[in-house]
Amino acid sequence: MLRTHTCGELRETNVGETVTISGWVDSYRDHGGLVFIDLRDRYGITQIVFNPDQGQEMHDQARTLRSEDVIQVKAVVESRPEDMFNPKMVTGKIDLLASELTIFSKSKTPPFEPGTSDLPGEELRLRSRFIDLRRKSLQDILALRHRVTQKTREYFNNLDFLEIETPMLGRSTPEGARDYLVPSRIHEGSFYALPQSPQIYKQILMVSGFDRYYQIARCFRDEDLRADRQPEFTQIDIEMAFVDREDILTTVDGLVSCMVKEARNTEISLPLARYTYNDVMERYGSDRPDLRFDMELIDIKEIAEVCDFGVVKNVVGSGGRVRGINAKGAAEKYSRKNIDELTAFVGDYGAKGLAFFRVKDGKLDSPIAKFFSEEHQKAIIEKLEGEPGDLLFFVADKENVTSAALAALRARLGKELELYDPKELNCIWILDFPLLAWNEDENRWVAEHHPFCAIVEEDVPLLETDPGKVRAQSYDLVVNGNEAASGSVRIHDSKIQQKIFDLLGINEEEAESRFGFLLEALRFGAPPHAGIALGLDRWIMVFCELENIRDVIAFPKTQKASDLLSGAPAPVDAQQLKDLFIKLDIPK
Ligand code: AMO
Ligand code: AMP
Repeated sequence: MLRTHTCGELRETNVGETVTISGWVDSYRDHGGLVFIDLRDRYGITQIVFNPDQGQEMHDQARTLRSEDVIQVKAVVESRPEDMFNPKMVTGKIDLLASELTIFSKSKTPPFEPGTSDLPGEELRLRSRFIDLRRKSLQDILALRHRVTQKTREYFNNLDFLEIETPMLGRSTPEGARDYLVPSRIHEGSFYALPQSPQIYKQILMVSGFDRYYQIARCFRDEDLRADRQPEFTQIDIEMAFVDREDILTTVDGLVSCMVKEARNTEISLPLARYTYNDVMERYGSDRPDLRFDMELIDIKEIAEVCDFGVVKNVVGSGGRVRGINAKGAAEKYSRKNIDELTAFVGDYGAKGLAFFRVKDGKLDSPIAKFFSEEHQKAIIEKLEGEPGDLLFFVADKENVTSAALAALRARLGKELELYDPKELNCIWILDFPLLAWNEDENRWVAEHHPFCAIVEEDVPLLETDPGKVRAQSYDLVVNGNEAASGSVRIHDSKIQQKIFDLLGINEEEAESRFGFLLEALRFGAPPHAGIALGLDRWIMVFCELENIRDVIAFPKTQKASDLLSGAPAPVDAQQLKDLFIKLDIPK
């Protein structure tokens, strides 16, 4: 070994020992006589002193050291004089008196120093990710990610699950995003698709008798990226046979408790709370509400329909809804200008306006208060449990617009008004999603999750009469407002599967060509089965209280799906294209 100790290891108990440590020069101070080097590795930082009395040649060499040079030092551990203790470092009570110095490699002047508190922009950091990853905070995140992954494996191994790898080069899978395609050289004109998830393969594993499967699976989706989405991400993917919904929920409850214990060293109380989709949509306007705080959406249709405010009245008349929220104690915190900003903000979710009222002396104070009689003002205050100093907001629109706009407003106000402890973890199950969603653009039903979800038994007759009301046996796990897992009980009967394809407008030919191998497998003795996948990256984000998924991935891609470090994606040689029978046709 090129070291006897790491840079985070030595303490006062080691004083007098001769040691060898290696690492990166974190900082250097040349005091003419003495040269001080802070040496860093992923375990910590240790101060080294070069004294000319220990050898002039070594001292001269030490004076040439600069940030990020990699060195090895043989030294004696000394205790520091008490007034030189550094309480910020675990090694702060000792330093090393160097007797030998080896310079393994010199570094070019780094674009930024990993220890700086004044970080450059993300683009530069991603370009120089090799330096960025030397930062302690990123190293700590990746170490935590490692620990959570290992705990996950341990949890499943103890329950007799098998970790099985599924192909990266496969057929297009049904998660609804665009595929990343890989051209085949041997089969000219044919393409593999990188998996959007191992969905089909894991179902086939159930048919084959591997009744408990998991995989820490890499998934690829060519979709619009957001702060919580990467084109390449990791799922903790699970499938079980001879189980019902309850078994999956309980198994995942146990996993979550295990992950939380590892990541946060806290206990989470089980079972995790459960809500139905309809319930949270009504109360919070979202299928992934952050329930670290209250602020429910309240319907005031009865009051709105008899008020004198034309816009609102019309909305009710045409079947829309009027819903509001109470921002407690916020009346003085939001100026007219702030509210204009909020109005523009809800506009992004389709709301045509944002009505607001300050609660004052048992009445409503607002430019539009005049449209509401005193009696109706009182009724509004009562419905929203308004108290003096509260600020009430309302949106009148189609139901889905009131939901989307108020859910976004609720999330924003919760954060701005600091209505929750950012450290808190709130994990909730959302059950019974609708099976289908109506796609306005394509004028047809599409699967809300994917086309393999089983239906809630009693809703089967609705397939013919009111497909939009059919509930799937599906479930999401939401953590602090993030969709952190999603799954379902599957259809294990090929005939019912065919029926669902019909409803989705996937004709027999298309179904055969896309999922034929799954349908065929289902015809050969399929056990009842169910599964789920957790978004590992999102869990790590939540555990680390981060808002950017790139911070939990060693080599992430930008919002435009490029890897700034390697320069991927990049053009390839003409010969490579030729081998793959590909001709480019890029519009000017
Ligand atoms: P789903 O598509 O909901 O389900 O994905 C499961 C979980 O993966 C995470 N996730 C993502 N994380 C980062 N970047 C992305 N682009 C991204 N997309 C999804 C989310 C999500 O909840 N096969 C099904 C699971 C099943 O039914 O078993 C599936 O993939 O946290
Ligand atoms: P206007 O009559 O358009 O000037 O709007 C008066 C107030 O009502 C403004 O604060 C608007 O933001 C609000 N408003 C307008 N339309 C709606 C609506 N559909 N829902 C809620 N508030 C609205």
